[in-house]
Order: sequence, then structure tokens, then C-alpha cells
Amino acid sequence: MAFYALPALHQGDVTQIVVVMVGLPARGKSLIAGKVKRYLRWTSVNAEVFNVGKYRRTDNPHPDAKFFDVNNPEGEKARKAAAEAAVADMLNWFKNKENKVAILDATNSTKSRRKWIHDKISEANLLHLFVESKCDDEDLIMANILEVKTTSPDYIGQDPEEAAKDFRDRIRNYEKVYQTIDESERNLTYVKIINIGARVVINLIQDYLQSRLVYYLTNLHIKPRSIWLSRHGESMYNLDGKIGGDADLSERGQQYAKLLPALVKQSGLPKDAPLTIWTSTLKRTGQTARYLQEELGWEKLQWKALDELDSGVCDGMTYQEIADKYPEDFQARDDDKYNYRYRGGESYRDVVIRLEPIIMELERSENVMIITHQAIVRCIFAYFMEIPQEKSPWMEVPLHTLMKLTPKAYGTEVEKFKADIPAVSTWRPKGSTAKHHDSVSEGMPEVVVGEAEGTSTKLKEDSVPKIVMTGLPMP
Ligand code: ATP
Ligand code: F6P
Repeated sequence: MAFYALPALHQGDVTQIVVVMVGLPARGKSLIAGKVKRYLRWTSVNAEVFNVGKYRRTDNPHPDAKFFDVNNPEGEKARKAAAEAAVADMLNWFKNKENKVAILDATNSTKSRRKWIHDKISEANLLHLFVESKCDDEDLIMANILEVKTTSPDYIGQDPEEAAKDFRDRIRNYEKVYQTIDESERNLTYVKIINIGARVVINLIQDYLQSRLVYYLTNLHIKPRSIWLSRHGESMYNLDGKIGGDADLSERGQQYAKLLPALVKQSGLPKDAPLTIWTSTLKRTGQTARYLQEELGWEKLQWKALDELDSGVCDGMTYQEIADKYPEDFQARDDDKYNYRYRGGESYRDVVIRLEPIIMELERSENVMIITHQAIVRCIFAYFMEIPQEKSPWMEVPLHTLMKLTPKAYGTEVEKFKADIPAVSTWRPKGSTAKHHDSVSEGMPEVVVGEAEGTSTKLKEDSVPKIVMTGLPMP
């Protein structure tokens, strides 16, 4: 039995880094901070956000714009104290050498504040990466204020219009003293993202993790879009309870493929925005995409990185056969499913590493439909929904169910659309070797949405979207 030692991102001695956010209010700093934390945690790097606003709120929960005026000594004092408390906690957090990246989320909008932070970080022997988000698109800023600021804890119980006006005034106060990072700070390692990546300035990147972060940051965009995620239709191997392989779809799997265009349409498609379909290189995902291509004319792209977790010597076996032939391995996998690597195959940890380019490409892309496999869906879903490693490999991802993920300001919205085409359940609870069997119907009333050749194309009423909000907490 072999365990994967460390993911690519861990190779060598990963340094401890402070990512220091810089920028006026409503420039997406908290959104970026949350995404960086989520991305790093997904790649097994311990990361934490230190949001100075949260510290300030303990003494000043509902300040008005005047509090942020530099000519208000009380406000200045309270804000400095909040920054000091956040930095002190952050430095303390780094005493645990397993903790690798802290994101200091505040405006840090003056050179003197940045010098103070830089000195503190250097004294503690930590690396830094200043990330400035600069944006002068007034309409976008107003939209940001209305989207997230009027519902901020700072304005609880207040009229949204008044809140928006006060927040605008708060920004004006910051603008009086704001200094963008310039040549005089060329000793700093920084990335400056102007108008959401329309221009990017990068300075003095020295470290592997710094450069990965810069690459990630420059791929981000905030255009509205969704990602559709589905397992392939039921396969002949699924029917036999066998794992891996390159089997064809079963009769019911083909029915799912036929229904998929109607299901995707029912989920709500963006107008005049064709989707690209990404599949693995295995037959069952290509066959599932067939009618999406034929009926909707969508382009298909195959990715080897989307192939199912490689089960090595166990490929083609049932879980019972694995338990009989390799009982220790079977137990080891149950004990630590994320890290267990099949003999001659992969672990979930390995899969996450090969999925990193997929995540980067997904961040850069707009609407995409991914048809892939159980373990791969789990890993991609875990990235968007911040599911911890001990839970993600055990998630139940039923066959014949389409998920629509829509990134929002501080999280991802999930809608699930279940096709009324029975399929075996391939989910194996810990300790079990049960053979795959038809998943039990919840007896939901059905809603007819269309008719496909030779099959019932009914959708269950629980295809009425189940919406779950999760991901990044409101700062
Ligand atoms: P504050 O200083 O008040 O905490 P902030 O800069 O942290 O503000 P966020 O709370 O992250 O701002 O604002 C989120 C909003 O910013 C969302 O509406 C999001 O769409 C938008 N946004 C995300 N990235 C950017 C960007 N690079 N430039 C401008 N707006 C962005
Ligand atoms: O059974 C379907 C399947 O896609 C297999 O090919 C694969 O080995 C397995 O699911 C992954 O799920 P788990 O990690 O729970 O065994």
C-alpha cells in the first residue's frame, strides 16, 4: 500500500506567506481573499483569512462614513487598533509551522500602513505578497455596493438606499488618502490587478507558491456564468458493480444521455451563450455528451485529467472482490480514503493535483458543462463548496443527476436536477461491500418535461432546484 507523500504544491519547503490585500472598499478584496483561501485549502495548504473589519466590529459594529474620515482621530485610533489586533493574531497563527498562507484582508491603502505591515512580516521571517485590486469603473463599484455592502453586518437593519449612500461616502473618505502601489514601493513583492485583470502588474515574485498564487489571481473573473456538472449515464460496469474500466453506457445510461439536452434546458440556459462540453477520454462520458452535441450543437473537448480515479490493480473488480483479495488495502482505504492510493493507481489526493489545471481553466472560462466520473465530480464539487478532505471522498453523487453551480459574490449556488431514469447507486458507505443496487425512489410526484425516443423523460418534482448556499462566509 502506498500513500502519496505531498502534492505538487507542497514539494520542497513551502514557505510561510502573508498575502496582503490592498485597495479601496468594494474592490473585491474579501471575495479574492476567500477564493485564495479555498483554493489553497483544496490543494492541502493551510490558509486563513484575517479580516480587519471583523476586529473593528467588536468595538464599532455600525460605524457611519465619518468614522472612516482621516480627520477623525477617534476613528483613526480604533482602526489602527483593529489592524494591530488582526496582525498580532495572524503572527501567532504562524507559530504553527503547518500554517502556510495568511490573507490579511483590509484596505491597507496608504504607503505608511503597508510599510508597517511589511516590517512586521519581515521581523517574523515571513514572505509577503501584496495584492492590490484597483478599479475605476463607477458603475461596477455601485453594483458591488448594492450586491454585497448594503447587506453587510455594518448596516444591519438599515435602509439599503441609505446604506449605499453612506458606503459611497465611506469610499470618498478612503479616496482622500489612498495611495496606489507605485515605483517607490518596488522593494515589495506585489501583483496589481487593474479593472478585474484588464491589466496586471507583477513585481519581484521570488517563490514557487507566490507565483502559483499570481497565476490563480490573474485567471479570476466575475462575469455571470454557471458550471454544469454531471456523472456519465449508468454504465455496464455500474450494473455489474465493477469499478474503473472503459465500459459502454447501459440502456438506462443511454436514456439519460437522450434526456440530458432537455434537463440542461430545464436548468435554465444563458441566452445566446453556447456551452462547451468537457468530457474525460473514457467512452461513457463521450456517449453521455452525444445528444448535447447533436441536438444543441455544443462543442466537445476531451480532457485526460477528467478520467476516473485510477484504481490500479483493482480496476474491473467489485468492492467485494477487492475486500476478499486485498483486505488490508480495503481497510486502509476506509481508514483514510483521501490519502489511500490504489496499488499501481491513484488516491483522491493525486486526483486533486491532476485537476488543478482544470480548476485554473474553469476559473478563466464562462459557461461550461462537465461530464465526468464519481471521484472527479467529488473533487471538483469540493473545490467550489469547500468540502473538507475527510468528507469529500464519501460524498454521495447519484447517477442521472445534473448539478448547476453558479458562483456568487461570497459562495456558490447549487441547483440539482434529477432525471426520472432509474440507475444503480454506486455509493459505498464506509465498511460496506454491498453490491450496487437500484437507488430507492423517494416516491416523489413526477413532473413531465418532455419526451425522448423510447424512454420516459419525466423529471422528479425534486428536480425543482434544491438550492444550497455555501462556500465563502460573509466577511
Ligand atoms: P471592503 O473594503 O469594504 O471590505 P472589498 O474590497 O473587500 O470591500 P468585497 O466585499 O470583496 O469588496 O466586494 C465584493 C464585490 O466586488 C462583488 O460584487 C464582486 O463581484 C466584486 N469584485 C470582485 N472582484 C473584483 C475586482 N477585482 N474589482 C472590482 N470588483 C470586484
Ligand atoms: O463505481 C463507479 C466509479 O466511478 C468507479 O469507476 C470508481 O473507482 C469509483 O466510482 C470511485 O468512487 P470511490 O472512490 O467511492 O470508490
